[in-house]
Amino acid sequence: MKDKLELLNTKAAEAKLGGGAKRVESQHQKGKLTARERIHFLLDPNSFEEIGMFVHHRCNDFGMADQQFPGDGVITGYGTIGGRLGYVFAQDFTVFGGSLSETHAEKICKIMDLAMRNGAPVIGLNDSGGARIQEGVNSLGGYADIFFRNVMTSGVVPQISAIMGPCAGGAVYSPAMTDFIIMVEDTSYMFVTGPNVVKTVTNEEVSSEDLGGAQTHMVKSGVTHLTAANDIDCLEKVRRLLSYFPQNCEEKTPLLPYELKDEVREELRHIVPENPNHPYDMRDVIRGIVDTDSFFEIHESFADNIVVGFARLAGRSIGIVGNQPMCLAGVLDVNSSRKGARFVRFCDSFNIPLMVLVDVPGFLPGTDQEWNGIIVNGSKLLYAFCEATVPRVTVITRKAYGGAYDVMNSKHIGADMNFAWPCAEIAVMGAKGASEIIFRKEITEADDPAEMLSIKEKEYQEAFAHPYRAAQRGFIDEVIDPRDTRRKLIRAFAMTENKVAHLPRKKHGNIPL
Ligand code: HXC
Repeated sequence: MKDKLELLNTKAAEAKLGGGAKRVESQHQKGKLTARERIHFLLDPNSFEEIGMFVHHRCNDFGMADQQFPGDGVITGYGTIGGRLGYVFAQDFTVFGGSLSETHAEKICKIMDLAMRNGAPVIGLNDSGGARIQEGVNSLGGYADIFFRNVMTSGVVPQISAIMGPCAGGAVYSPAMTDFIIMVEDTSYMFVTGPNVVKTVTNEEVSSEDLGGAQTHMVKSGVTHLTAANDIDCLEKVRRLLSYFPQNCEEKTPLLPYELKDEVREELRHIVPENPNHPYDMRDVIRGIVDTDSFFEIHESFADNIVVGFARLAGRSIGIVGNQPMCLAGVLDVNSSRKGARFVRFCDSFNIPLMVLVDVPGFLPGTDQEWNGIIVNGSKLLYAFCEATVPRVTVITRKAYGGAYDVMNSKHIGADMNFAWPCAEIAVMGAKGASEIIFRKEITEADDPAEMLSIKEKEYQEAFAHPYRAAQRGFIDEVIDPRDTRRKLIRAFAMTENKVAHLPRKKHGNIPL
């Protein structure tokens, strides 16, 4: 008995140190940390408590009975991140390629159940060759047990997936159902079917990196929300991301100590160009409003025509959605609507107030957009805002045209406070397009049609290219000096801090997926 315990402790200690020098080296050679090193960098010093270190797999086929590693290829437990509780699992690629056995899955399920019961986030550090091939359906069942818990946990506690190695086949669906995915550049990839299957089925030749590397999923598919230069950068980003979230859906967002000072920001007066057709960077507006250095952008290189991210306003976490005039003049299209909708729903799930900055000329026209379902996809963003019960404050910085005016957190769909800068234009469409339609007869019959168009354009502009009509109707609560925006928003969010809003009783809504 004593010998057995000693043996176990030796193996456990070896596992604790990263699984032996050879295995550590094999990870390091690939530019990766070991599972244990990752946990060390993720959690606060000395806060990790391991659960299930002695778990062994139960497979006796293919000579597996003789190959036992304490912990079975995944390290699970809990600790603190920034002083707050978090549950973590880290797959160990040095044990059967981090592949998921029945017992490996049970360990992950155990910490997910604990996280649900105790109301704290789950962080998964994924580095796995997928289902443990020797275990057959037992391993598939293990995956399904995790998938089920991903869904049950969704909206109860935040779930974050760091992809720090392979993640292929059906295994991708667990991270996909969590709230955020972070992929490490060069060492991670995600795909449902790998390059070999792709070649067989479609005859396409593609590398793992091009098919499912971090850049591909950041820029092309939008599957990943963030990318990281290396493992340490990835773990630091996980820590930063969590700092904006409450622990669970019952908590308010974190409030850092903050002393109100002079909150006027002169620079906000000089961002929007005189010419309404010239671009500017909405990130400058965001940075001008929020607490210094607090903006953390999500989905930075996907659907650049909308900007989303977290920040702090007078110490309180907020979520931000803003049109981006720098890209496609800030129009809404399929991808930007999907990106915005997902972000709004995350914030609403976890009581994170929403600040919405509007400069939108409408929806992007074209066959590509229509054939890719701009109707259904655009309505996702509309639906998400309509359903959100968190405090919601809007600032129209310039254009708010057409249906996009309604969609972008207008008063009509439940926003709490709506502000506009004096240069805001709120209309069905731009003055030129509008005049060409409603004054077509006068323009075509005029001696000088071009001159007539410019007269009519001016008339239309005088009538609508300002925010005062909307303000007269109460659709805008106040037209504000840009430099006062930060002060106004701090007060508006303080005023709505205890907002109570309930949706009608229902099983669940039917968002146009
Ligand atoms: C058992 C596995 C394994 C797996 C890797 N290993 N994947 N063992 N089950 N799924 C083992 C290898 O045998 C090897 O053991 C060790 O892990 C390291 O693997 P290498 O191949 O040497 O590493 P590398 O060259 O880095 O390649 C990594 C890899 C490759 C690309 C992930 O191992 C691979 O293609 N694995 C199989 C992937 C796969 O087809 N998985 C099933 C997908 S289907 P030794 O003893 O030699 O060191 C799936 C369905 C999920 O996951 C469905 C959910 C619904």
